[in-house]
Order: sequence, then structure tokens, then C-alpha cells
Amino acid sequence: IWTTENFIQAEIERVREKVGGRKVLCGLSGGVDSSVVAVLLHEAIGDNLVCVFVDNGLLRLNEREYVEKTFREHYKINLVVADAEERFLTALAGVTDPEKKRKTIGNLFIRIFEEEARKIGDFDFLAQGTLYPDVIESVSFKGPSATIKSHHNVGGLPEDMKFQLVEPLRELFKDEVRDVGRKLGLPEVMVGRHPFPGPGLGVRVLGEITKKRCDVLRQADAIFIEELHNANLYNTIWQAFAVLLPVNTVGVMGDGRTYENACAIRAVYSSDGMTADWAHIPYDVLGKISNRIINEVRGINRVVYDISSKPPATIEWE
Ligand code: XMP
Repeated sequence: IWTTENFIQAEIERVREKVGGRKVLCGLSGGVDSSVVAVLLHEAIGDNLVCVFVDNGLLRLNEREYVEKTFREHYKINLVVADAEERFLTALAGVTDPEKKRKTIGNLFIRIFEEEARKIGDFDFLAQGTLYPDVIESVSFKGPSATIKSHHNVGGLPEDMKFQLVEPLRELFKDEVRDVGRKLGLPEVMVGRHPFPGPGLGVRVLGEITKKRCDVLRQADAIFIEELHNANLYNTIWQAFAVLLPVNTVGVMGDGRTYENACAIRAVYSSDGMTADWAHIPYDVLGKISNRIINEVRGINRVVYDISSKPPATIEWE
């Protein structure tokens, strides 16, 4: 019979049999899927697993530190962190078109991942957190997000890097992956985390991406998420995040006039990201979030709440 425990045991044995004593490379994003893959493989093959995490400068507040702490310090997993913020920001300078941003970020990610892999050594295997819905989507190309927005995945590695794929989650749905993660001891904050797009803040800083704008957005986003946790709403929501708008608005602070950025906050209910409803967050919670963002984040003087559902809007703004 199918139980989470049986699945874990069977996969561990399958991986051991498949890779023997050879090395496996795993792209770690800090998201639920790749985190579960990393911990599962570490149970199976220990130090023959090497994880690569690319810090593209488009991550959420303290995300990289958290990944290092969890995987390197707690799990003692071989983790290589590529410090690539500057390269990404340089490549993105002046880029405002959403699809061009995605392509720029996706291509550079692949290049950096490949560079890191070559530095570490020879690998026969590449581990990926492919889930069942990804398998279906890539076979049928029917997923609306796959056709409306290009998604970047490790799947596009260069031809001359010949890997055999290790995809232990290929037959699972997200909920099952979360259960596997819990059974493997991953902390709830990680297992229950909202999905985060590969291009990260690149598609949430609307218009031009700069380090300063990313920093401003990171702070606003962290406050929003913290207040959702405080109000016990985080787990009822599929995805929630702040978006920095390329719009300045007039405000007052003390005796002075301000002319600063507006920020949007977005929270949606969904079961798979394909369709979504805007989340009915209580007004007092919204009020608190708005007050805190405007008071605590320098550079933002107005907060608006996105009340669009998908379709016809998409979850992300770009
Ligand atoms: P949209 O905005 O298309 O998003 O309604 C649906 C889901 O996909 C995520 N998303 C992405 N994920 N690369 C990703 O890995 C991308 O380029 C990308 N664009 C959107 C989005 O966060 C939501 O969960």
C-alpha cells in the first residue's frame, strides 16, 4: 500500500541502485520541491550528493542565509552557493520587458549552474524536483502558465552536459511532496512555503530592476508575509507577495511632501496556480500591513491591494 514512509524507503533504495557510488548534482532553489529532493537524496547517498544554489540577487529577504543554515549547517549537505547577484543585475540593467527578463534570468541561470557544475567535477546524474503536474504540463503543453509565460527550468541545460535525470518526485502532487518533506524532518516553514517563481523578484520589481528596488521590495514583502503569519492566514493562501510598481505617488510625512513608490500586495487562493481567486483578507489585517509597510519601508508611500482573479489576470504581475 502507498504510504509516505513506504514511498521514502522505496525511493531511497531505487536511487541507491540507480546511482551506485557515483555523484549526483542537484539544483537547490530553497523551494519545497528541490528541498525535498535534496534531503531525500542525502538520506540515500550522503556526500555523493552535491547541491548548487544560485544566489541571483532576486531572492526574498534572508533566503540565501536560510538555505545555507538549513542545508549546510543542519543537514550537513554538500552545498555550493554561487554568488551571482552582480552578474544578474548587470545582465538585467535596462531590461523592462517581462519575457525578456525571464529569458535573461533563465539563460544566465543555466550558464552559472553549468559553470559551478564544471568547477565541482564530473557528474553523471542531475536531480530535479519535477512533480507529476510538471510531467503532464510538459507533455501536453496545455498549462495556461506554460503557454502564456515562459518558465525557466533546469531542463534546458546545454547539449554537451549529458546527465541522467534523477526525479524522485515525478509521480507526486504538491501535497504529497509536502508530506514527504515533513516525514524527512524538514521544518514546517519550509515545507509549507508558498511557491516562488524562478525569475523571483525579477518579475515583481516592475520596470527596471536595480539592487535598491529589490531591497525595497524585499522589506515590504517580508512585512506582508509576517503579518499573514501573525493573523494565521498564511496557510490558507496559495501565494502572497508584494509587487513594486514603477509608479511614484505623492504623500505626506511630517510637514513634508513625499514622492515615492507605490507597492501592490497580492494574495490568492488556488489549488494548482492555474486558476486563482483574490484572497479576502480582513480589512484590519490589510490596514495593519499597509501601515507597517509605509512606516517601515523607506521608498514606499502607498499600498494598494490587488483584487483581480485568474483568469483573466495572472497571479504574477509580469
Ligand atoms: P501566473 O502568473 O502565470 O503564475 O498566473 C502561475 C504560477 O506560476 C508561477 N510563475 C512562474 N514560475 N517561472 C516559474 O518558475 C516563471 O517564469 C513563472 N511565472 C509565473 C507563479 O508564481 C504562479 O505560482
